[in-house]
Amino acid sequence: MSIARKPADTSVDIHPLLSERWSPRAFQADVKMGTEDLTAILEAGRWAPSAMNGQPWRFMIAHTGDSAFTKMSELLSGFKKTWAPKASVLIALLVRTTHDDGTPRPGGLYDLGLAGAMMTIEAHHRGFAVHQMAGFDREAFAQTFEVPSDLSPGIILAIGKQAGVEVLTDDVLVEREVAGRSRLPLSELVLPTH
Ligand SMILES: Cc1cc2nc3c(=O)[nH]c(=O)nc-3n(C[C@H](O)[C@H](O)[C@H](O)COP(=O)(O)O)c2cc1C
Repeated sequence: MSIARKPADTSVDIHPLLSERWSPRAFQADVKMGTEDLTAILEAGRWAPSAMNGQPWRFMIAHTGDSAFTKMSELLSGFKKTWAPKASVLIALLVRTTHDDGTPRPGGLYDLGLAGAMMTIEAHHRGFAVHQMAGFDREAFAQTFEVPSDLSPGIILAIGKQAGVEVLTDDVLVEREVAGRSRLPLSELVLPTH
């Protein structure tokens, strides 16, 4: 089994949890996630920072083999329908779009992203790989899972044990799995402040 590693090329060392994390598509099928690992990942999201400690995130969890997992997989777009169902869990992150008094919460998605980032790092620390997915039918998700009207589905995390690239059967997916990772240079990201 040739598990692809793609450490980030950084100008100075950063924590290995950050440099080694990437978003694979090759997952080992039918691997169950234990309760402790799942709970730790949820706790990591729960303890994310948020504006005014508003905690606008909510989680919906589907385990491989259960009917929610099949339903959630079917809502994914394109190639994701083929590789994401091999993950151990799919966790949908939903955001509260309003404050308690009904006024809009424009920063909610920022908070949701922080929760997703914390969950991703905890999962990686526990030996799981995470692939975040915005490509799914949000309307159908809301209907299928009877999402309350003040919540909006934001992202689905596919979390599982990484497999070798050989589990991918489509050439396009193999190509993406072995492709290098790149980022804009810091010189482009850091803007002058004069
Ligand atoms: C908000 C968000 C949405 C994403 N949506 C998708 C998606 O729908 N399909 C997909 O294959 N990857 C998706 N990704 C994964 C990104 O393509 C990936 O993180 C990016 O290319 C950087 O690669 P790396 O995570 O391996 O460093 C998403 C990532 C984020 C953070």
